[in-house]
Amino acid sequence: MSGSVFVKKITEFSNTYHGPFVTKIYAFDEISSTNAKLRSLAIQGADEGTVVIAQTQRKGRGRFDRVWQSPKGGVYLSLLLRPKAPLEKTSLLTYVAALAVTHTIRSFNLPARIKWPNDVLVHQKKIAGILLESETRDAHVSYVIVGIGVNLNTNLAHLKADVRTNATSVQQEHGFPIDYDEFLTTFLHQFDHFYRLFSLGRSDQIIDAWKQQSDTLGKRIKIQTMNDMIQGTAVDVDESGFLLLKTAEGTTVRVTSGDCTVIDES
Ligand code: BTN
Repeated sequence: MSGSVFVKKITEFSNTYHGPFVTKIYAFDEISSTNAKLRSLAIQGADEGTVVIAQTQRKGRGRFDRVWQSPKGGVYLSLLLRPKAPLEKTSLLTYVAALAVTHTIRSFNLPARIKWPNDVLVHQKKIAGILLESETRDAHVSYVIVGIGVNLNTNLAHLKADVRTNATSVQQEHGFPIDYDEFLTTFLHQFDHFYRLFSLGRSDQIIDAWKQQSDTLGKRIKIQTMNDMIQGTAVDVDESGFLLLKTAEGTTVRVTSGDCTVIDES
């Protein structure tokens, strides 16, 4: 479908984009999943800064193997990173991606906040999701794929009812559509900014910025991890990006990943 309006538009964008981060953009009218496509490009040796963008996805994937519904109007893209930082720092990329998306949405005058670790909410409804997939070899990171799904000009009626109840879109919030290219340009600049901090080892600045946008700190939450359900108050994030939860017993638990639900706002 290389002649589609969407592909032409992104090709034109790619030819005129002179901003940072991007080395090559692949655009698709429809694809199975931008993350899956970028993974195969990464295996073939694609460079850092390779981007895959699609107008719709047939098999968009979310965290915990959930489906990411991907109707027209949304932004579905994946970015390829080949970070030089030590393996243990990679979890901070979750925060880098969440910050880039949040700052982009905020630049369109919406009060976006981050639900730990990287869901982006506006008025407590999900507006964007992030899926990181990485490959490690001999204790170092070979590549990281950062998959971003944003409900930009998404008509919420095109989402299934169970998702729709807790979702919103930029268009829905504003009442008018947003220019896709402008959104993309802003996002790529924001991503470059935070990824640069990461590459310079400025974890402190990333964590500080994340805390400022956090919707989770100070709240009582429960986190479903791979093997456990942990409950407590989210008190802080440490320099490695672990969330610190204070349990009812008074102990502090460090959590690296999981599915977070707010119990109450205390
Ligand atoms: C989540 O909140 O569960 C993460 C959703 C991530 C969705 C994006 S859309 C672009 C990229 N390709 C995918 O298949 N998933 C990510």
